[in-house]
Amino acid sequence: AANPQWGGRFASGPAAIMEEINASIGFDQILWRQDIRGSLAHAAMLRKVGLLTEQEEAEIQQGLADIAKEIEEGRFAFSPALEDIHMNIESRLSERIGEAGKRLHTARSRNDQIATDFRLWVRDSIDGIVEQTEALMRTLARRALEYHDTPMPGFTHLQVAQPVTFGHHLLAYVEMLARDASRLRDARRRMNECPLGSAALAGTSFPIDRDMTAQALGFDRPTSNSLDAVSDRDFALEYLSVLSMEAMHLSRLSEEIVQWASAAFNFVHLSDAFTTGSSIMPQKRNPDAAELVRAKVGRITGDLIGLLTVMKGLPLAYAKDTQEDKEPVFDATTAITLSLAAMEGMIRDLKPNKERMRELAGAGFSTATDLADWLVRELRLPFRTAHHVTGRLVSLAEQKGCDLADLSLEEMQAVESGINESLYNVLTVESSLASRTSHGGTAPANVKAQATVWLERLAQP
Ligand code: ARG
Repeated sequence: AANPQWGGRFASGPAAIMEEINASIGFDQILWRQDIRGSLAHAAMLRKVGLLTEQEEAEIQQGLADIAKEIEEGRFAFSPALEDIHMNIESRLSERIGEAGKRLHTARSRNDQIATDFRLWVRDSIDGIVEQTEALMRTLARRALEYHDTPMPGFTHLQVAQPVTFGHHLLAYVEMLARDASRLRDARRRMNECPLGSAALAGTSFPIDRDMTAQALGFDRPTSNSLDAVSDRDFALEYLSVLSMEAMHLSRLSEEIVQWASAAFNFVHLSDAFTTGSSIMPQKRNPDAAELVRAKVGRITGDLIGLLTVMKGLPLAYAKDTQEDKEPVFDATTAITLSLAAMEGMIRDLKPNKERMRELAGAGFSTATDLADWLVRELRLPFRTAHHVTGRLVSLAEQKGCDLADLSLEEMQAVESGINESLYNVLTVESSLASRTSHGGTAPANVKAQATVWLERLAQP
């Protein structure tokens, strides 16, 4: 049989495969709350401008409240024949309350309806992800304060470079996540315009009040161009691109955790709660959570590229292609939500192996730059010359199989006669760390102050 919502000009119903490819109810039913919220705002506006009576609005409110209850309690029969969440709810409403239900779609189309529902959903998700991001930042900052003076090797090219503190390393991720949260807020601000009332594509002849619905739904204002409003999915793309970037950050931290937890590094111990065993090797403790978070960026970025590709070349205004916008957004949201929660747990539980990190922090001539800096400061050598002198001392120590600090004063002076005893003071990991007091540097005092600033900024109200 023809579709009861629009079957007037149809003699027969769709092919089974048509119904199957067309139906979005399997995945868009998640939007039911937003759809009902939008309908309530629309009905209130229709009543205000005289297109619904007070009685009709009251019936619609009651009907939608009953439907919400049916859905919440799992009693609502979603029907693929009714395609999507909009027609499922509207048809049920008419079934329950008759005429008034059939008036609800005045001055509205599914095109502005879905654009509105989807924005509401993405907006709510942004709020949830910002909250989760800040929870992770808080945990990182707390651990950073705890380990503000714990030495670890800083790497470049994954080669030991200069000593840093574990707290400094953790705070680097707080900075990245802060930018992600700021990008999310920024995207939210930009998307916060209401498409409702754009109707199918051209607006409507009815005297609707778009400011009223925009305000009721928490939008800053109505959108300004009806063609753009029903076809724009920038807000979803921007959301996905921010999530891709955030997932990339989480992936980097995950990779470090995987490395740190390996026997070769042995920098941290992960809790039982965030590791798994092996079905064959009884001794194994695998960092599966970190590996999965490391991988999630793959699907999230895939979701972004998928939707970008759907949108590419789409002519104005609405086309059914955009129904393909939802699954990538839902998928990416689930992935980032899981990732943030798992990462917060891993960081909360993580136990650093301070002895091992301290040992490696001093390995590989990691204070060679401190030596070169001493030559510049105390002997006024040009840095390039100091670099060369230090290189020769490193090479000497390497030949002898000892650390820089184990070279005798005579051996040092044979390379650079101006060197004196006080040079040895700058060769320890602790002195190196303490000296890095430049803004943003790794000196424990800096790290402590910075962690404290973050904890204050992130303090829960
Ligand atoms: N389910 C549709 C979507 O997600 C709603 C809009 C349908 N509009 C239409 N003219 N067929 O895009």
